[in-house]
Amino acid sequence: MARHSSSFFQGWEDKEHVRIFDWFSYFPTPLFIKQFEYFNEIRLLQKYFEKEGSSDKSMFEVGCATGEMVRYLKKKGYNCDYHGFDISEQAITAARKKFPLGKFKTITENSREIVESTGKAELVFSRDVIMHQTDPWGFLDSLLELATDTVILRMKTRDKGDTCLDPELSCQAHYDKYWMPYIVINVDELCAHLSKKANVAEINIIRSYGVLGGKNGRFLPKELYFSESGTAETAIQIRIGDKTNSSPTINLIDRSDKLQLSVIERAWLKLWLVYKRPEPEA
Ligand SMILES: C[S@@+](CC[C@H](N)C(=O)[O-])C[C@H]1O[C@@H](n2cnc3c(N)ncnc32)[C@H](O)[C@@H]1O
Repeated sequence: MARHSSSFFQGWEDKEHVRIFDWFSYFPTPLFIKQFEYFNEIRLLQKYFEKEGSSDKSMFEVGCATGEMVRYLKKKGYNCDYHGFDISEQAITAARKKFPLGKFKTITENSREIVESTGKAELVFSRDVIMHQTDPWGFLDSLLELATDTVILRMKTRDKGDTCLDPELSCQAHYDKYWMPYIVINVDELCAHLSKKANVAEINIIRSYGVLGGKNGRFLPKELYFSESGTAETAIQIRIGDKTNSSPTINLIDRSDKLQLSVIERAWLKLWLVYKRPEPEA
């Protein structure tokens, strides 16, 4: 069993983590692609490869879980040099089993060690990982150091109120046993943090608004239970490069990424999952 820096990371070694986060592997491919491409961060990824090409690009995914990104890249023909990293040995073992030719590696919570072991990549992708850190700003900085061209992320943001960085007060219950940090970052603080970086040239922020408090075992500051705080699932693209001005260009876009499957697609998925989805281990 992997050793982690604090109890806030232990839950990622639970078998339930693998089972739940492998959910997409039981989707029929057309629905998997449809659902995936509805997410704003995947649209950013798609645009990146369409504009820049993929065959001469390297991509690191930090917090890759069971590696479903590999399936997406394959199905789309994006043949970049992909490396997946995760702190969960259980998840990396499952990823290797599904994709024996894939490049997956277990790391500690400090993604800076990737530079030493594997170098840097043009594109760094990290979805729903920052919010689970005890030091989200440090984690973000380490992702910026890993990328030579672009970082694409998904995180949770709030428009109003300061970021609560205390994981005891902003957390989520997982797998009936563990608390994990669930940090909702204020968008203005995020822009100010990134604007101070010498190498951040452009920031594109796409918010899909929705109340975060109380759902899925989340224990959050009280104001995050109301829409007024402007909480969102937020996809972010950070372009690394020379700034044309002293501050980076910042673009803010609102776009819902709530999927609307048709009735037929939902029925297909339901039936498919009855046969494909494994039951939890006793
Ligand atoms: C919420 S899951 C998201 C998984 C996947 N990115 C997705 O969107 O389905 C978070 C994943 O990040 C991993 N993780 C958490 N902290 C990490 C860190 N500091 N470095 C690398 N991986 C981390 C966890 O083990 C877990 O697999």
